[in-house]
Amino acid sequence: MINIAVLPGDGIGPEVTREAVECLRLLSARRNLGLHFTEHDFGGVAIDHHGTPLPEATLHACLAADAVLLGAVGGDQWNDCPVRPEAGLLEIRQQLGLYANLRPVKVMQGGQWSPLRSDVAAGSDILVVRELTGGIYYGEHRLAPGEASDLCTYTREQVERVAHVAFKAARARSGKVTQVDKANVLATSKLWRSTVTDVARNYPDVALDHLYVDACAMAVVTEPRRFDVVLTENLFGDILSDLLSVIGGSIGLLGSASLGNGGPGLFEPIHGSAPQIAGLNIANPAGAIASAAMMLDELGLGDGGAVLHEALEATLMAGCRTPDLGGDASTSGFGEEVRDRLRVRSRRDHGLRN
Ligand code: NAD
Ligand code: IPM
Ligand code: MN
Repeated sequence: MINIAVLPGDGIGPEVTREAVECLRLLSARRNLGLHFTEHDFGGVAIDHHGTPLPEATLHACLAADAVLLGAVGGDQWNDCPVRPEAGLLEIRQQLGLYANLRPVKVMQGGQWSPLRSDVAAGSDILVVRELTGGIYYGEHRLAPGEASDLCTYTREQVERVAHVAFKAARARSGKVTQVDKANVLATSKLWRSTVTDVARNYPDVALDHLYVDACAMAVVTEPRRFDVVLTENLFGDILSDLLSVIGGSIGLLGSASLGNGGPGLFEPIHGSAPQIAGLNIANPAGAIASAAMMLDELGLGDGGAVLHEALEATLMAGCRTPDLGGDASTSGFGEEVRDRLRVRSRRDHGLRN
């Protein structure tokens, strides 16, 4: 049995997570994957029920699970809480040791959903490898009357371990890493640049280049196809991945995998709780479903992940799209379309009539 801890969270989190879990249940039943799901309070909903965004019971369930599937957290009603829902997210990433956050961006359909010209966007295929448990997110935050500071610290070891993840990923792709920093100003960026250059010596088959983050922000919209793996620190990775996500058409499309040293990985769409559209059944569940597929890839369950990725892509290509992509599909309708494709695939695999 494979235990999946499900943390739906807040806003659209529960809506999109439900669709992902239903896809996984169907796949598990048809392919005997043995997935078992338990649901836990996390984020704002956990503040309401337990007074903290990451209750002990939720943390223990995640530590004991084989993988964690997360929706999204946050909302204005919790912004003034002593510990905000977002702090729970940082805490769980740290507790699970998830230092590498993989955010793949792929432009489908010849790029016509992109706000960029399709001749610029078409064919872009980028993997953001974002360092996830260091940097300014985890330094001291000081807020005094009239003055504030946030401390950004990195150690060589923190940079090395995530750099290895990026180079290994590049080997399995087109073999190029672009490391993004602000080494013309920041000390941490200088450490990043020299450390990544050293790590690169172990991967002579992978090409490495460096780019300042401001220039990178420009280049990802002018020539996104020049990028393969983008390796960067926590805050730059957060910002660049939202920017990159819309090149494919919508932030709602992107899934992610957060990995550490062999413990349970955490899988979540990169978007937030989108409170304005919560409860309307119009949020795009594709990013949540993509995250579920990445989870299956990571768990090594045969071709289960590939089958789910394929069903998701085929659903989008067939024109089933939520309003963020200009369509009129509902969240649940989109999920059901993906499951229909899984059913057809399963009947075909079993040699039965469709
Ligand atoms: P957001 O990602 O929630 O929304 C940004 C924009 O994208 C909004 O217009 C929203 O409607 C749209 N959008 C996001 N996901 C979508 C989807 N699946 N389908 C269709 N449209 C989608 O970012 P925000 O508005 O800056 O933040 C809202 C809350 O979410 C905040 O509390 C923030 O801290 C939190 N947040 C949480 C996570 C997370 O849990 N991982 C990530 C980002 C933001
Ligand atoms: C993300 C989010 C989080 C982050 C926030 C909610 C803390 O934006 O997962 O991208 O900045 O890491
Ligand atoms: Mn973000």
